[in-house]
Amino acid sequence: MSGQKTLVIYFSRADENYGVGVVEQGSTELLAKAIVARTGADEFKIEPVEKYPANYQAAIERATAERNSDARPEYIGDVDITNYDTIFFGYPIWWGDLPMCVYNFIEKHDWNGKTVIPFNTHEGSGNSGTYETLKDTMLGATLIGDGFNVAGSVARTDDGIKRLDDFLSSLGR
Ligand SMILES: Cc1cc2nc3c(=O)[nH]c(=O)nc-3n(C[C@H](O)[C@H](O)[C@H](O)COP(=O)(O)O)c2cc1C
Repeated sequence: MSGQKTLVIYFSRADENYGVGVVEQGSTELLAKAIVARTGADEFKIEPVEKYPANYQAAIERATAERNSDARPEYIGDVDITNYDTIFFGYPIWWGDLPMCVYNFIEKHDWNGKTVIPFNTHEGSGNSGTYETLKDTMLGATLIGDGFNVAGSVARTDDGIKRLDDFLSSLGR
């Protein structure tokens, strides 16, 4: 894949979360930064205009309301993905699905011809079928690899980073 331009796009929430306590950096962001460090890719973080509450329970309540209303929360700024061939795409599992602001990002972009490598964190649900959802929503994209998923609590350990390195090696990155 040398000579191709690579971008890492991700959504991640810091502060209080299940299984990790209060963290300054979300677990998906930690993986995204590691991918950037290893590949030299550019990065774009999907940052909701209205920040999620730091309190876990309050964040859960907002995420539930957004899901129930099929909301498309706005995010800050944007990135022109036409400049990139390969896109690592990362997110946490929320209610067995993609967070709604991630749907918003996907729907605002043209995925035709892109090579997409999904990665996600969770606390038990694996990828929860979201790679199929990406195939259905990123029209014209080719998803490669079987994706990479790891529990957020594991992503924060040496073992999690070793697993990520093995995954990148398997892709020749
Ligand atoms: C609103 C919300 C819903 C969640 N739903 C699930 C779920 O359905 N399955 C699961 O395994 N983990 C679920 N989790 C846990 C997150 O996927 C996990 O903590 C993840 O590592 C968070 O990533 P982040 O730190 O990058 O935001 C949920 C967390 C939140 C805040």
